[in-house]
Amino acid sequence: MNHDTDSSTTASSPGSWSGTSPPTTPELSDDGLDIEPLPSPVAENNLLGNRTVPPPRPKLSTTTFILVIGGLGYIGSHTVIELLREGYNVIIVDNLSNSYSTVLNNITTLAESHCRARSLPVPLIHFHRLDYRSRAMSLLLESYSDLVMTIDATGTQRMTYVSRITGVIHFAAYKSVLDSITRPLHYYQNNVCGLVSLLQRLDHHGIHNFIFSSSATVYGARASSGKPLREEDVIHHPEQTPSGTILQPAVTGLTCPYARTKYFSEAILADTATSNPSWRIVALRYFNPVGCDPSGLLGETPRAEATNLYPVIAQVLTGARASLDVFGTDWKTRDGTAIRDFIHVLDVARGHISALAWNEDKGGGFRAFNLGSGSGTTVMEAVRSLEQASGREISMARAGRRPGDVGVCIASTDRARRELGWSPRESIAQCAADLWNFVRKTIR
Ligand SMILES: NC(=O)c1ccc[n+]([C@@H]2O[C@H](COP(=O)([O-])OP(=O)(O)OC[C@H]3O[C@@H](n4cnc5c(N)ncnc54)[C@H](O)[C@@H]3O)[C@@H](O)[C@H]2O)c1
Repeated sequence: MNHDTDSSTTASSPGSWSGTSPPTTPELSDDGLDIEPLPSPVAENNLLGNRTVPPPRPKLSTTTFILVIGGLGYIGSHTVIELLREGYNVIIVDNLSNSYSTVLNNITTLAESHCRARSLPVPLIHFHRLDYRSRAMSLLLESYSDLVMTIDATGTQRMTYVSRITGVIHFAAYKSVLDSITRPLHYYQNNVCGLVSLLQRLDHHGIHNFIFSSSATVYGARASSGKPLREEDVIHHPEQTPSGTILQPAVTGLTCPYARTKYFSEAILADTATSNPSWRIVALRYFNPVGCDPSGLLGETPRAEATNLYPVIAQVLTGARASLDVFGTDWKTRDGTAIRDFIHVLDVARGHISALAWNEDKGGGFRAFNLGSGSGTTVMEAVRSLEQASGREISMARAGRRPGDVGVCIASTDRARRELGWSPRESIAQCAADLWNFVRKTIR
């Protein structure tokens, strides 16, 4: 496997700050965050000998970045490579709790070969190995910010942060359903408390373009309706439909603490966006991301035990696992196994780029979008597609249904297609071919 140890190999060394403003020692705010108060214009004037005209400031850097938190994980790394291919400079924050630093080397290799083939400059890749909840996160945001004095319509001077971070994509979270049942506080701390602190820090630095990794798990009991799930099936504030009906927020059947962290996070984001019109927040509800980059250099290589279907099948193919447990073979589906909406991870990655662009052009407030293929594949069909791609038989064992599982879970993709202009491109056969290519390379 493509794993390394805990040591960190970086594109820019961790702990070295790449912005133009040097980090300063932060103070604790009332909220316990290490957020420095902005200097008031009076304090600034005193420092400058009570000058009334703002002093000349050094020219601000025009280099902008997308901050990707959890950017070395499965979906994060594929999104980072797509951002780089599109020419965005990227800052990656990851504490490697569920990923390896070799992923960074592979991202860099892929970006360089993509740009070399097109005679394009390679965008900047800055990596900072840190916990996004730590005090160091404030220093990092500081180092990518400039403090500028602005004068509003009433002539009042204000100190404002102008950040070179123009958008944030937040992947960092714990994600195991079973683990969340045994360690719920661990999940609430990282997935929910961490998000609250992050939003405060971003707000302080004037960064309001935010994309959040949500999940189809927020649909709770709605998933068992058997109908494609629409974003308006789970909302956080009352919404009016085009026909004039007022929909009220309501959710039932969130099956585990993990699902609740995603639901609570969305609710926090919706409230935050309502409180301040500067925020542009998108929650992307992923269905079942699978597959990997066709190069075979990036894949799903978690430190934690794999629980999702495709990584488990990959382990069966490499011989690391004897057989695949198929949970539930008595669903009312074409072959008795559960139907899921599998979507290629690169389609998911591209959904983030569409969401960033949408936020820039039309965003405002909070909006949720499904990222799924819009069609259902049974577990058995998924297994067959991997058998076809690999030419190997996959050994399976029948297992009972797991509590909380549903028979059918498919996304409606209408909203993402209509509003984001995004649509999935890759087939289930492509997902299988790309995964097998990755597995083959790791076996070798
Ligand atoms: N993979 C899926 O099937 C799926 C489905 C729906 C939603 N999601 C959500 O998408 C996001 C990404 O999923 P993934 O499959 O890529 O997971 P992943 O575990 O592969 O990636 C998460 C990354 O975040 C990092 N991380 C975790 N906590 C951190 C912290 N406190 N500080 C810094 N880094 C931290 C991990 O080291 C890892 O690299 C998660 O929020 C997950 O809940 C995933």
